[in-house]
Amino acid sequence: LKKETVTLTFLMPDGERIETPAKVGDNLLDVVIENDVDIDGFGACEGTLACSTCHLILKPEHYAQLPEPPTDEELDMLDLAFDLQDTSRLGCQVVVTKNMEGWEVRVPAGVADAREPS
Ligand code: FES
Repeated sequence: LKKETVTLTFLMPDGERIETPAKVGDNLLDVVIENDVDIDGFGACEGTLACSTCHLILKPEHYAQLPEPPTDEELDMLDLAFDLQDTSRLGCQVVVTKNMEGWEVRVPAGVADAREPS
């Protein structure tokens, strides 16, 4: 059985638009890795909700359609994210669904890294 895919667009900080296929059931971290989307430091904790490097920003109308609101653990991590927005999510916690066809996801301009002053 072939997995269904939708097409997502990652809006990079430099204005580049990267279109990728995204398998329904994968999370957005999987999508970034599978398609070799080049985002600095993305997914450092490999989806274990221990970093905030997989931070992505959704459009408000898309954010509102996500089936699950962020958990407290996700919100705690998001608090540490660079450029936090009302529609921010952690990519590893967002599962691709069929209704995501054509969604545009913004990559924040930086990742929070304790080693660098922001
Ligand atoms: Fe670390 Fe998502 S990859 S929280």
